Amino acid sequence: MAKIGIGIIGTGSIVNTYVKCIEEIENAELIALYTKSSSRVAAVEKHFGVPVFDDIDKLLALSEIQLICVCNESGNHGSAILKAAAAGKHILSEKPLEVTPEKIDEVIESCKKHNVILGCVLQNRCSKDYMLAEKTIKEGKLGKLLMGNAHINWYRNKEYYATNPWRGTKRIDGGAAFMNQGIHTIDLLLNLMGGVKSVFGNVKTMVHSIEGEDVGIGVLNFESGAIGTITGGTALYPGYSERLEIYGEKGSILLEGGSIIQWNVQDSDKPVSIAAVSDGSGASDPTSIGHQNHKTVIQDMIGAINENRKPLVDGAEAKKAVEVITAFYRSSEEEKLIKI
Ligand SMILES: NC(=O)c1ccc[n+]([C@@H]2O[C@H](COP(=O)([O-])OP(=O)(O)OC[C@H]3O[C@@H](n4cnc5c(N)ncnc54)[C@H](O)[C@@H]3O)[C@@H](O)[C@H]2O)c1
Repeated sequence: MAKIGIGIIGTGSIVNTYVKCIEEIENAELIALYTKSSSRVAAVEKHFGVPVFDDIDKLLALSEIQLICVCNESGNHGSAILKAAAAGKHILSEKPLEVTPEKIDEVIESCKKHNVILGCVLQNRCSKDYMLAEKTIKEGKLGKLLMGNAHINWYRNKEYYATNPWRGTKRIDGGAAFMNQGIHTIDLLLNLMGGVKSVFGNVKTMVHSIEGEDVGIGVLNFESGAIGTITGGTALYPGYSERLEIYGEKGSILLEGGSIIQWNVQDSDKPVSIAAVSDGSGASDPTSIGHQNHKTVIQDMIGAINENRKPLVDGAEAKKAVEVITAFYRSSEEEKLIKI
């Protein structure tokens, strides 16, 4: 089986997850990494045992690399993607794909122009229980959808923001609790509930010394006529497992920490294969997020390259949550309902 050569942009905490996944995937091979800090080159090379460049062009010039994984700070994803696309590499970017819908449009266009595949890592879409719920809901077994709620009432300590100063900044993190942590569950909610017509948001910075919000709420009006709410935060001690609630005319399904906790669907038996163990929720500790769902996303991306098809989450899909989150921010600032 021909191996896909992979290069990684960024050398932060999430990169360990990628290296572990690539090691476990038979038809994937880690070729090299890029770090913007020259002082880190030697240490990272020693740690991962592959070449590390502090010149992005040198990484992108390697012909053995077909796929670039973009793992740097969120608001720097776009510039990395534009360079990788121009070099003819397929791209799998960490979430959020970029921090504004406009920047996302720009990278989607560039990938189209250079004929490369663009995927985004929103790995909770691969959680087994979520997929069971998704299948049932998309088959219409809940009937007309009435209400969808997402609660990501998480906690991050002061050190989380202090150690890496891009976190919580508006320009590079794109905000904070919703854009960085909440985005996963917001993406799941939108994937199940469909298009959004308008939102009202109220976000605040109440505990941490950051620009972005550490507490926030949002109200959603879906195109279908259904309604929804989102609550989130990184100041909500001790941090509870994220929760997703979908209510329809014929029943409801509730998930917590990626696992189904309530299944009350009139025409559908409770599924037998409910995951016994979730892939880690990260409610209070970002390092507790498991790597299995990332592995599935990388395998899917390799499949997309080999079969020349769309990846699980393409640019247009990845844009949806960012569009809603930035609309919450605007709504909060302008104190009005925002049409999407
Ligand atoms: N999908 C997920 O569940 C998940 C989880 C964590 C992070 N992420 C995403 O991954 C991206 C990177 O996040 P992260 O948590 O790895 O960021 P991070 O703060 O650990 O690292 C980000 C960048 O900062 C620099 N950096 C990190 N440690 C450094 C050090 N000791 N000295 C000098 N420079 C250093 C590196 O350039 C690195 O690429 C973000 O877009 C984030 O949203 C996704």
